[in-house]
Amino acid sequence: MAILGVNIDHVATLREARKTNEPDPVWAAALAELGGADAITIHLREDRRHIQERDLRVLSESVAVPINLELACADEVLIIACDVAPYQATLVPERREEVTTEGGLDVVGAQRKVADAVKRLRDAGIFVSLFLDPDSAQIDIGAELGIQAIELHTGAYALASARHHAQTELETLIAAGKRVRDAGLTLSAGHGLTYRNVMPVAAIEGMRELNIGHSIIARSIMVGLEQAVRDMKRLIS
Ligand code: PXP
Repeated sequence: MAILGVNIDHVATLREARKTNEPDPVWAAALAELGGADAITIHLREDRRHIQERDLRVLSESVAVPINLELACADEVLIIACDVAPYQATLVPERREEVTTEGGLDVVGAQRKVADAVKRLRDAGIFVSLFLDPDSAQIDIGAELGIQAIELHTGAYALASARHHAQTELETLIAAGKRVRDAGLTLSAGHGLTYRNVMPVAAIEGMRELNIGHSIIARSIMVGLEQAVRDMKRLIS
């Protein structure tokens, strides 16, 4: 069975919308653990739009399950990652204007830069994964860079599943998953996975880990809102 990494970035997105101290992703991580999260995933973006360095540092002291830190191949965040040394680091592409991580890392185009980042993280004793599109050229080159895992970007499948044309994208993911496993690497996947589309991806042979954020945080607002209103009503009255 695949394990679940709960991405709590969007708890911090809500906090940053007001530049206040709630909701705290550290509190969210504890609740996610109580719910059975096998790992906590956070993305320390260069623009700090959600997760802050303080979150990473406090989480690394307080979370019992492994932390998977997503980061770009950029010096400033690599220094922090190597200093904190979470269990796992996932190298992702970053564009400031994007709403979310819109595609996988281009290891074909930036092999040297990625290899350098991988070496720095590995030297710090961190398990390293690359976030790649389900593309054979990217997987083959990525697999040569001394990494331990590849996380397949499931965005195209997620978009297609919303339009009921997901089978071709699922087959692409299945073939890419086999390529990752044949290279002797751990297979994981994520991006755009929801309560509706997750099951076929979880069933891919050898799937080790799924990283899911937006859909879980979105649902948590809905399932918790009723109680939150009740609590406020009680205080007012
Ligand atoms: N995996 C990686 C590498 C990501 O960058 C993201 C988005 O931050 C996710 C998984 C989770 O995507 P979503 O929030 O759509 O579930």
